[in-house]
Amino acid sequence: MGKTWSDRFDKGLHPFIEQFNASIGFDICLLEEDLDGSIAHVRMLGIQGIISEEEASQLEKSLEQIKLEALEGSFRPDISDEDIHFAVERKLIEMIGPVGKKLHTGRSRNDQVGTDIRLWLRKRIDEIDQDLERFQRSLFVIAEQNIYTLIPGYTHLQRAQPISLAHHLLAYIEMSQRDRNRLKDVRKRVNICPLGAAALAGTSLPINRKITAANLNFEDIYLNSLDAVSDRDFVVEFICASSLIMTHLSRISEEIILWASEEFAFVELTDRCATGSSIMPQKKNPDVPELVRGKSGRVFGHLQAILTMIKGLPLAYNKDFQEDKEAIFDTVKTVRNSLLAISIVFEEGLIFRQERLASAVSSDFSNATDVADYLVAKGIPFREAYQLVGKIVKNSLEEGILLREIPLTRWKNFHELIEEDIYEKLLPRNVVASRMSEGGTAFERVKEQLLVWQKKLVK
Ligand code: ARG
Repeated sequence: MGKTWSDRFDKGLHPFIEQFNASIGFDICLLEEDLDGSIAHVRMLGIQGIISEEEASQLEKSLEQIKLEALEGSFRPDISDEDIHFAVERKLIEMIGPVGKKLHTGRSRNDQVGTDIRLWLRKRIDEIDQDLERFQRSLFVIAEQNIYTLIPGYTHLQRAQPISLAHHLLAYIEMSQRDRNRLKDVRKRVNICPLGAAALAGTSLPINRKITAANLNFEDIYLNSLDAVSDRDFVVEFICASSLIMTHLSRISEEIILWASEEFAFVELTDRCATGSSIMPQKKNPDVPELVRGKSGRVFGHLQAILTMIKGLPLAYNKDFQEDKEAIFDTVKTVRNSLLAISIVFEEGLIFRQERLASAVSSDFSNATDVADYLVAKGIPFREAYQLVGKIVKNSLEEGILLREIPLTRWKNFHELIEEDIYEKLLPRNVVASRMSEGGTAFERVKEQLLVWQKKLVK
């Protein structure tokens, strides 16, 4: 069968160019949205008297029929259809003849594809929001059980101060909430309807854009028809929000990988989520977080690709836009799979090694700040206290002892205001408990955070 537009042409397309040009290989997944958009469109055409009510209902029924056939797998477009929009139109004309040819009245594929992709993305954003919530919940469960589990906190990947493990995990719940909020915000701009902008300039037919927009549950319509068919900002925004999700997942993945190493040994990977080596029988590898960390790169790549694709385009539609689809589809797939994989890792893939964590927080100088704070509480200026503690640490390192191993007489030599209660102060648990400032890691503060998330996450 010739192309929809073939009357204007004398010769057929070169077969390779036909393939090169076609998007049907990937935009087939917009079928449901394409049909929904068309149904809303023909209803509006009927209401406006642009086609008769009977024609509108015949078109609607046939579009519904295509939906069923698609579900059964009997609707199979091929490469000659070029894209999903032509595929549906061809099928419709095959089914009902001349009335099918009225489908495309008062619109263009340019506003149509913009509508389809927005409808599709709107659904996926809602799904990703659910995925993020599951991820948050998986962290919350472990946090709740580990308020009093201490873990070294790092800066520069050097032991800094001990913290509650719950506090550490809650930081990622916060990040994920920002991710959810960002998506919610992007969704507002995805949820504007371009349909009726037609090719670029609107149409001379008496369409009513508000009817189709309302029918498709769009919040609003684009005010300017050129902007409507040329806007792909929402694609950039979506991939940007997705890139941050992947960044957060990559960071937590990196931590899992470190924690699972022999050097840290803070977690053990369960058999559910770890993999073996083909040659080294002793190994248990953190492939899942490694994959997630690795996959972040492709999403960042899509962001760069889309920005570059858009930046030189004159108004209005350009075929370059066809490139947005694979980037969006792959981003959605990557983000959803990564969120699911990491959630499963937290749900059943990790065992925190309590004994290792306990010995990690009591075998270093991460309580040094607390000696300084102790002196500050006794009226010593912080910088002076800091310098003194620096000296004490240096001394202890030379002697190969920890702060808690310094005898009281020596403490007194360092400063006469130091008393017996310094030893209490040095206990990791007290170190953590004392960080009572808002947002600090003190157990009481951590419990407050947990309460906030309990309300939001536990239903
Ligand atoms: N497959 C095209 C795309 O994805 C649909 C719009 C084509 N419009 C056009 N004027 N050629 O962007």
